[in-house]
Amino acid sequence: MEYIHLSETLRVSRFIQGLMRLPSWNFNKYDLLYQIEKLSSLGITTYDNASIYGSEISFGEAIYLKPSIRQKLQIITKSGLRLETQYPDTSKEYLIKSVEKSLINLKTDYIDLLLIQQPDPFINPFEVSEAFNYLLKSGKVLNFGVANYPPSSFNLLQKFVKEPLVTNQIELSLLNLKNFVNGTLELCQEYEIPPMIWGVLDGGKIFTSSDEALLNICDKLEEIGSRYNINTLETIIYAFFLSHPANLIPIIGTSKINRVTNALKALEIKLTRKEWFEIYYTVKGYI
Ligand SMILES: NC(=O)c1ccc[n+]([C@@H]2O[C@H](COP(=O)([O-])OP(=O)(O)OC[C@H]3O[C@@H](n4cnc5c(N)ncnc54)[C@H](OP(=O)(O)O)[C@@H]3O)[C@@H](O)[C@H]2O)c1
Repeated sequence: MEYIHLSETLRVSRFIQGLMRLPSWNFNKYDLLYQIEKLSSLGITTYDNASIYGSEISFGEAIYLKPSIRQKLQIITKSGLRLETQYPDTSKEYLIKSVEKSLINLKTDYIDLLLIQQPDPFINPFEVSEAFNYLLKSGKVLNFGVANYPPSSFNLLQKFVKEPLVTNQIELSLLNLKNFVNGTLELCQEYEIPPMIWGVLDGGKIFTSSDEALLNICDKLEEIGSRYNINTLETIIYAFFLSHPANLIPIIGTSKINRVTNALKALEIKLTRKEWFEIYYTVKGYI
């Protein structure tokens, strides 16, 4: 496994386990602890929660079964989006309350990385800055970042908060390449912050669809995979993103360990620029 330092207090595994779909996995706390230990043995130590995923309580209960595991893990959670109304709220009061609730849910004293879940058209960046200061000084949150932020929102927030935003968690997949070219990824490169990327397998659609365009894309992935003796398409998809110079950090959405190991094989593959563009333009030709 590779690890990436996002700050002096945060080193994440190159693959992060996402927990958005955890409520649908039907895992009890013992199953989940077993999964966490299995993932740890594969080198995955970083977990992506959000206050609205419904994952925090189950995750907290699982790690509480073995408290010594906490310090070996990096816990990400998100705030800034209200579950009841689904509208953004980055007020100081809401951010602090929501983090304090996440700490209780996760049964932990600190969150390694707090992300603001999405841009807030009603943002008061002074308030976010005050909330971050309080959360950092009280030791409740060690690092801060954002998710789904276009460059303008990122620059605004970074101007007001003292702490460096250590990542932008963005959507990036074969069927959603726009963040490569709309300034979002370039801004991360400009700030030299590794972006975390979500939805990398398009929720599995690319493997299950009978759409001719997607089948043609799969043919290309298969052809490139055969050059590396790889016959699992997800390995080549992850290799496509890992080969990019921006130090992309994929968030895995699967519950299945064999699919995780297929993903990890991508760490051994470095696509050439030519292969990268073979995939990129194949997708562009069909989508
Ligand atoms: N910041 C944000 O706004 C945001 C938004 C969405 C997600 N996220 C984060 O990103 C994580 C990953 O997102 P995601 O779950 O959408 O990722 P994804 O990897 O695109 O999709 C995962 C889904 O694809 C299925 N899948 C994987 N491999 C497959 C295969 N070979 N054949 C068929 N189906 C397959 C999985 O099912 P199985 O479990 O059966 O393998 C799972 O349902 C989330 O858990 C969350 O932490 C962040």
